Amino acid sequence: MRILLLGSGGREHALALKISQSPLCENLFIAPGNAGTAQCGTNLQFGINDFDAIKKACIDKKIDLVIVGPEEPLVKGITDFLINDPALKDLDVIGPDKTGAQLEGSKAFAKAFMMRHNIPTAAYKEFTLENYHEGVDYLKQHELPIVMKADGLAAGKGVVICENHLEAVAEFELMIQRAKFGDAGKRVVVEQFLQGVEMSVFVLMDGKNYVILPEAKDYKRIGEKDTGPNTGGMGAVSPVPFATPELMKKIEEKVIKPTVEGLKKEGLEYRGFIFFGFMIVGDEPYMIEYNCRMGDPETEVVIPRLKNDLVELLAAASNQQLDKVKIETDPRTVCTVVAVSGGYPGDYKKGFEISGLNDINPADSILFHMGTTTANDKVVTNGGRVFCITSYGLSIFDAVEISKDEMQKVSFTGMEYRSDIGYEFE
Ligand code: AMP
Ligand code: GLY
Repeated sequence: MRILLLGSGGREHALALKISQSPLCENLFIAPGNAGTAQCGTNLQFGINDFDAIKKACIDKKIDLVIVGPEEPLVKGITDFLINDPALKDLDVIGPDKTGAQLEGSKAFAKAFMMRHNIPTAAYKEFTLENYHEGVDYLKQHELPIVMKADGLAAGKGVVICENHLEAVAEFELMIQRAKFGDAGKRVVVEQFLQGVEMSVFVLMDGKNYVILPEAKDYKRIGEKDTGPNTGGMGAVSPVPFATPELMKKIEEKVIKPTVEGLKKEGLEYRGFIFFGFMIVGDEPYMIEYNCRMGDPETEVVIPRLKNDLVELLAAASNQQLDKVKIETDPRTVCTVVAVSGGYPGDYKKGFEISGLNDINPADSILFHMGTTTANDKVVTNGGRVFCITSYGLSIFDAVEISKDEMQKVSFTGMEYRSDIGYEFE
């Protein structure tokens, strides 16, 4: 099979490595990729939103399967663009069409979908410029804290949690009247605050059937003990200790099945990954968000626990044969620790040489590139999150210790990482 993978992060390196290990993979291309994916296949130099270049590569490289890593091209309709093109009639795409991608692309769409299908989630109301004054009145009497979400994609920054009413009204004005998040935030979802613990579950769906992949928990804040601003994710663990078989059963019955059935009932032939973001309140799962793709850095712990051949699994998803697949997982604990550029998630510099990338002990660890590129035959930093080290261990503590030991071998100017991933489980 000839495969094109879109994206350039750690998620894509983890997918590319696993794909390249499959005997079914004849050729793998990654666009635009990073210095790590270049070791698993051929990087192509065009962006994830350059639909014409993607189409041309599918024709020139005789691609059978496209896997879309990030959400942006999905929300912009890359799947519809490719599968409706008569020149690409044999091509399969892993990633939902534009309507299915609305599960992530519009918080209002996702909330209304959850309501229609009785999926447990925080109570909410939705506001735009048209009912702005009603929104202000609503906020003033809302219990604290107040969660406000920009409707559209806002690069992970569209959620604001306000501790008092004054701040909430000011944020609401910034979002709706002053377009703080651009058009994405001109519609705002105001939602009840849920107190609990977060975890994520990943499903692969073929339009009809689904399989559940290993669950994960990520660490979003920049600072130790979950302090400071949000990032794309500073580390992840899998399995999640509190994800008991009873909780996983509730998640499947109350959320996954109604979601899959809801998609089918609404005529959305969803083919791709669904990322379910949960708040577990007591022992009940509440949906916080859907994503129409895998998570990053969650993929860097989920894929290393997956024993199945990934190409076989993705081919089964394209052929609506997931009912014939059984997911096999590695029982060991897997953790990843992310190394970031100094200054991230604020301003940071790029272009620093990274040393020691090839010194990782392959017995228990894998280094996945995130924001890296090659310049003058050297691997240099090219993003806020630069790489992560995933390790297998007997426990979360053990796996994180192994990653931290390996971390000592790699360096670049300004490198930082959280040394407390999984701290609450010690
Ligand atoms: P999201 O972009 O939807 O993942 O939201 C970002 C973060 O905001 C989540 O990971 C939660 O930590 C927090 N959050 C979102 N919705 C709620 C909610 N209803 N109650 C409490 N925290 C929330
Ligand atoms: N790590 C969170 C995400 O990928 O959305």
